[in-house]
Amino acid sequence: MDQQALKRGAAEAALAEVEEHGIVGVGSGSTVDAFIDVLARSMLPVKGVIAASAASERLLHARGLPVLGLADIDRLPVYIDGADEIDPQLNLIKGGGGALTREKVLAELSERFICIADASKRVERLGRFPLPIEVVSYARSFVARRLVALGGQPVWRQDYLTDNGNPILDVHGLQLDAPLQIERTLEALPGVVTVGIFARRRPELALIAAPEGVLALPRPAAASAAPAAGG
Ligand code: 5RP
Repeated sequence: MDQQALKRGAAEAALAEVEEHGIVGVGSGSTVDAFIDVLARSMLPVKGVIAASAASERLLHARGLPVLGLADIDRLPVYIDGADEIDPQLNLIKGGGGALTREKVLAELSERFICIADASKRVERLGRFPLPIEVVSYARSFVARRLVALGGQPVWRQDYLTDNGNPILDVHGLQLDAPLQIERTLEALPGVVTVGIFARRRPELALIAAPEGVLALPRPAAASAAPAAGG
């Protein structure tokens, strides 16, 4: 089974998550493209779809789906998006397609975040995929030096600007064993717009397509703090 067929399998499984006459959010990338296609072909009536990238928005228009903007909605019942890496706790690396900032906004707004992917995206630990970080142009070299000090090797994504007009640094070699802490540390650096770790807002569910079928992985509870000594 080729990867495209697997992506489509995950996209088909996600259709069950969309409410009739409801609003749905979509991220960006080839798996999301497959979902948009599945949604359009299903003829399921939806009130509107909000997209995390200009490319997804173009595809929605091309498929005749009703497109909404962020200012049009105050709640988002479900958000469907792909990922570059997914660990067992459903921490994600995203942003390979550069849409990480708007993706994080929609994930944060959503009541249910569903990640769709083929099984090649599953990893034991995040970090094989270079971590995308969107920065403001002015601070690119400053942020890059701070990333080097933290042990990373940032590579400027050449000839590329996000839909927000910002450059991206793809960072190799960072230690991501504590994804939530590193997400917070990196997002606190002045000049950083968004870090492609999704640990603070993990998906409620991952639908992972493998040749044997689609695996539904609910989000495990966050590890609880160690009990106080003597308590
Ligand atoms: C875009 C993303 C995508 O979800 C991620 O890159 C996966 O893409 P694909 O579905 O093409 O494998 O984060 O910013």
